[in-house]
Amino acid sequence: MQEIIKAIEEASVKIKDLIQEGDVSKSEQENSTGDTQLKLDIASDEIIENIFKTIPSIKAIVSEEQENIIPLNENGKYLIAYDPLDGSSLADVNLSVGSIYGIYENDFSGKNIVASVYVVFGPRVEMVVTQDSVKMYRLLKGEFKFIQDIQLNEKGNLNAPGSTQNCWAPYHKKMIDDIFNDGYRLRYSGGMVPDLHQILLKGGGLFSYPGTSDRPKGKLRQLFEVFPFALSYEKAGGAAIDGYKRVLEVETLHIHDTSPCFFGSKKEIEKVLEVYSKNV
Ligand code: F6P
Repeated sequence: MQEIIKAIEEASVKIKDLIQEGDVSKSEQENSTGDTQLKLDIASDEIIENIFKTIPSIKAIVSEEQENIIPLNENGKYLIAYDPLDGSSLADVNLSVGSIYGIYENDFSGKNIVASVYVVFGPRVEMVVTQDSVKMYRLLKGEFKFIQDIQLNEKGNLNAPGSTQNCWAPYHKKMIDDIFNDGYRLRYSGGMVPDLHQILLKGGGLFSYPGTSDRPKGKLRQLFEVFPFALSYEKAGGAAIDGYKRVLEVETLHIHDTSPCFFGSKKEIEKVLEVYSKNV
């Protein structure tokens, strides 16, 4: 695991330079979900793949930017699913973006995720590693230095509601309105990594990306986005659900499957469960 984390650190230093100096325009290619890839997405993906290819403990990798699983070492222990540059379209307006890695054993499924790492590229570069606990590191003079453990409060005051209101179910809209009426502040940049990082660091709140009229199974991908953050939120003392149950218990039938998801501290997730259980 340590060599995988080192490999992610090495890739992140290169991706940071790429974001600062690289071309943020669109490429001619689309990824497996039909999004037009930016040149930054393709270049970050290549950086990560080339580094992971040198690690013997990795059995296979799959990137959000690619259609299929790439087998690496038959005797390797770990399977890694990664989103090389989530929210990459925010780079050209100079908002934060991030990489997300889910590290699995045996198969790519929520119940078999054993660790996760995400890296936020903002005014600072920060890496959060989740194993038994959630640890944050910061890139200082070319090296990632340990900064702090991350722990959520029982209840927070931030609300990050995903998608657009005209695609929300009426009960979801009412729930979000009630949360704002309880005094929560809107904090939503449209980048999953900085938005979830903010809630983790500021003690708590709710990030939601529900099933919507245009995307009944939500937008965010299980293996590359939802499961890695679910592990971090659970280990930080919060919770992550699909509206009804732990999202890490949701089955993955295809590597690019998506799932509705809610990440938060305990109180906010209790509220989502209460609302959703009445609207099955
Ligand atoms: O995965 C894509 C992504 O950009 C996430 O980083 C982000 O949380 C989400 O989409 C934003 O989607 P929307 O604009 O529909 O709220």
